Amino acid sequence: MPNGIKRIGVLTSGGDAPGMNAAIRAVVRACVYHNVECEGIFQGYQGMIEGDFKRLNERSVAKILGRGGTILKSSRSKEFMTEEGRKKAFENLKKNGVDALITIGGNGTFTGAHIFQKEFGIPVIGIPGSIDNDLYGTDHCIGFDTATNTVVDAVDKIRDTATSHNRLFFVEVMGRHSGFIALKSGIATGAIAIILPEDEMSVDELVETLRSTEESGKTSSIVIVAEGSKSGGAYEIAKTVTEKYSEYETRVSVLGHLQRGGNPSCYDRVLASRMGVAAVEGLLQGRKDVMVGIINDRESYTSLEESITRANVPNRDELRIARILSI
Ligand code: F6P
Repeated sequence: MPNGIKRIGVLTSGGDAPGMNAAIRAVVRACVYHNVECEGIFQGYQGMIEGDFKRLNERSVAKILGRGGTILKSSRSKEFMTEEGRKKAFENLKKNGVDALITIGGNGTFTGAHIFQKEFGIPVIGIPGSIDNDLYGTDHCIGFDTATNTVVDAVDKIRDTATSHNRLFFVEVMGRHSGFIALKSGIATGAIAIILPEDEMSVDELVETLRSTEESGKTSSIVIVAEGSKSGGAYEIAKTVTEKYSEYETRVSVLGHLQRGGNPSCYDRVLASRMGVAAVEGLLQGRKDVMVGIINDRESYTSLEESITRANVPNRDELRIARILSI
């Protein structure tokens, strides 16, 4: 094999995202195609520390392409943040003959991967799987499209009640530090306001918008709030707004973890399949310490360091468009 790679380990870590299974399938099948063995590592980095390994073949990943979650399971391992934990993990890789690693996850996953690679020199490639879509070096992360469609579906339903009862709804969506889900779903559902960590709309501005749209005959509205918003979550913002403006009956809905589950969309399945193959082929071509991404419909590789230190940020023009349309 080129670079002497005979066995590639694959794991998922951090928050699960719809499409991770499609990525695992692609990694395993690309390994088989290129005559390399593939070792599944269960429970993320914690499983690497505890030796939770299992050889995978093309049949082990049958019928998972369209399933949410991750068959390899996931965790946020505190032990892997210690030198001792990482040493144990490396010993287990050696014991199982794993000589390269593919990690599927988000920022925390890649931070761990980057440190691990520096300490032990084992080649690592990351695949971006995060509904938050906040990784630099790819147009989209696996899971973002599905999660956003889940939000759109939920908000369309909430809209029915909002309209029937002339209510103002504050809907909180995921995104610890990132407003991608909020921005896209807000445009797609015609939200009157979208509150993002990257660009906060002030309460006064929101009250002003509510007032002027009510004057033009609007009887119900939806405000989308990203969970990482600096003015607090949806409950807090709703409280502040209603203290200043109480014309509407108000309700709050926090969508929570339902956004992380469900069958991946066509877009996420294809994205994950492409990234899985590109990760295996990247390793075989001698790439390491990089994240695979798709930029302008082309596979590309960005250093892990860059992908974790520079964030992907929402398009400000989309925010402007959302404001134009919310009158
Ligand atoms: O990073 C993905 C994410 O879903 C964030 O949007 C959210 O803040 C966080 O994970 C929730 O994590 P947990 O599942 O550990 O509660």
